[in-house]
Amino acid sequence: MGAWKLGDVASHWVDQFLSTKGEKILEFGCGNGTIERSKKYKVTAIEHDLLYIKDDFRCIHAPLIFIQDLSCFWYDINYFKELKFEEFDIIIIDGPPGDIGRKGILSEPWIFKLSNCILIDDTHRQEENDLVSKIEAILINVERVDLIENSKWGLRKTTILNRSDNIDKV
Ligand SMILES: C[S@@+](CC[C@H](N)C(=O)[O-])C[C@H]1O[C@@H](n2cnc3c(N)ncnc32)[C@H](O)[C@@H]1O
Repeated sequence: MGAWKLGDVASHWVDQFLSTKGEKILEFGCGNGTIERSKKYKVTAIEHDLLYIKDDFRCIHAPLIFIQDLSCFWYDINYFKELKFEEFDIIIIDGPPGDIGRKGILSEPWIFKLSNCILIDDTHRQEENDLVSKIEAILINVERVDLIENSKWGLRKTTILNRSDNIDKV
């Protein structure tokens, strides 16, 4: 595995989950792991950095903009707002990179309606763990699973929020 892609334990979990639930992934943050998943599943990736944009699957370039309300940078949704009318088997939140932060997704809560399963990577970090709590507060009927992996880069955690239905407070 690489430090920049989803860990082995989390990738395995996604494979197990999708073998029973379906095949459509919406992934924030593109990298080598996304490329591997695109060979097995229908992946839609959102990526801000042209260096990691791929053209052999649906990889949408969305530059970062400043989100006033949350005082952070996040993807400009004008580049992917057509996704409002789609459904996904899983949403993977693994971008933008940790130094930019991922909490900007909270400014677009409609995204959480697109799937019953939301995976947030790197939740061993305080900011990503706080993001999980905020998403949990928005959703109802949510079951939390924490996957811990002892990787060569240290302890990593990935959190999955799974809903039994699609009714929420957003
Ligand atoms: C954690 S990576 C996303 C990884 C992706 N979800 C995967 O499993 O391969 C978060 C961001 O880092 C950047 N990135 C991707 N691969 C990288 C690499 N090998 N080195 C440095 N930055 C990378 C991209 O901008 C990406 O959106």
